[in-house]
Amino acid sequence: MKLTKTFAVLACTSALAAPAIADEVEVLHWWTSGGEAAAVSVLKSDLEGKGTGWVDMAVAGGGGDAAMTTLRARVTAGDPPTAAQMLGMTVREWADEGFLGNLNDVAAAEGWDDVIPPAVQAFGKYDGNWVAAPVNMHRPHWVWGSAKIFSELGLEMPSTWDEFFAAADKIQEAGYVAVAQGGQAWQEATVWEAVVLGISPDLYRTAIIEADDAALRSEGIVESFEIMRKIRGYVDPNFAGRDWNLATAMVINGEAGMQIMGDWAKGEVIAAGLTPGVEVLCDVAPGTQGSFLFNTDFFAMFDVGDDKQMAQQNMAASAMSVNFQETFNLAKGSIPARTDVPGDKFDVCAQKSMADLAEATASNTLFGSLAHGHGQPAAIQAAYTDVVTQHFNSDMSAEDAAAALADAVMAAK
Ligand code: BGC
Repeated sequence: MKLTKTFAVLACTSALAAPAIADEVEVLHWWTSGGEAAAVSVLKSDLEGKGTGWVDMAVAGGGGDAAMTTLRARVTAGDPPTAAQMLGMTVREWADEGFLGNLNDVAAAEGWDDVIPPAVQAFGKYDGNWVAAPVNMHRPHWVWGSAKIFSELGLEMPSTWDEFFAAADKIQEAGYVAVAQGGQAWQEATVWEAVVLGISPDLYRTAIIEADDAALRSEGIVESFEIMRKIRGYVDPNFAGRDWNLATAMVINGEAGMQIMGDWAKGEVIAAGLTPGVEVLCDVAPGTQGSFLFNTDFFAMFDVGDDKQMAQQNMAASAMSVNFQETFNLAKGSIPARTDVPGDKFDVCAQKSMADLAEATASNTLFGSLAHGHGQPAAIQAAYTDVVTQHFNSDMSAEDAAAALADAVMAAK
């Protein structure tokens, strides 16, 4: 339960900006797609410019499941990396096990408490201490549309599921793949949580954040599985095992009309030299206007010995600077975790996220993403994901799926 280590107080903040000694950090992360790699290179160059070397430990696999398995193996073998990318619930779990360092000094020197939204602080702090540096806020419930296909067929981006399926029919009739879907459980969970949120924010709150038995067995959850079944009908036969970024590429290349995916997909659009909102259209998933699911990528520092402290502090300070958060998030597709980064250089989709985040915070419809580690601890998250993927990949009825979901979540709780 206890943090095992408190970093020594740094002599002064200027030491963070211009370290006297060269050192290096080994960083474990899962940013391997084109857009993700472009974003990670921003951090790498920033650090190298400040005299801290970067040893890359990239573990491919969207959503980070494979990376977290590798991380567990490294720590179990007594060889943790200096720093690791993690989602919110994972930060809590590693802190709870006592493996993470304490970043309070750098957080105080850089004023994190004043600029990081409370919803993000709730994951970056453990027992009142900063244990991980938040670099962004992703929003997982978007629909991306091929502007070429939409304009050719005279379609508008859908704002209801009826409109979504009407557009999907037209796209399919015209010979394109209607819905570009990847074939991995986390991608199906990403779609399902968007569907639940679109049915109502209250359903998301009760069935997911509160994991309430009655809510999980409710008509709303049955309806969510009916919508999933309909979506499945518009997915092409080759989706099994497909990575999310290959599905995004189908939309970018004008082979598929739409993809339901988080705004890391926008990083692919940007890496392809295109403009989000122009060649690839964006809107939030049907019914989710006014609500906001988020997932934040954190860098947590492992206790790897005193000689790495300066490099770890440099990395945390770099990742939290206003300039870095602007440049990094322009490439990553997310919005900054800091609230004081100017929005003027961001595309229309990110600007919509910034405005919607303020609205959802005010109306109490801001929630952590279940599919991306901010809704439930890993074991309970897995119970949801297993049933969602089992339903999507079989002919299970919506009623049976809701009952199986409630049973699985209750057993995992
Ligand atoms: C992470 C993103 C990443 C995406 C796909 C999400 O869980 O937060 O940074 O781009 O997974 O790998």
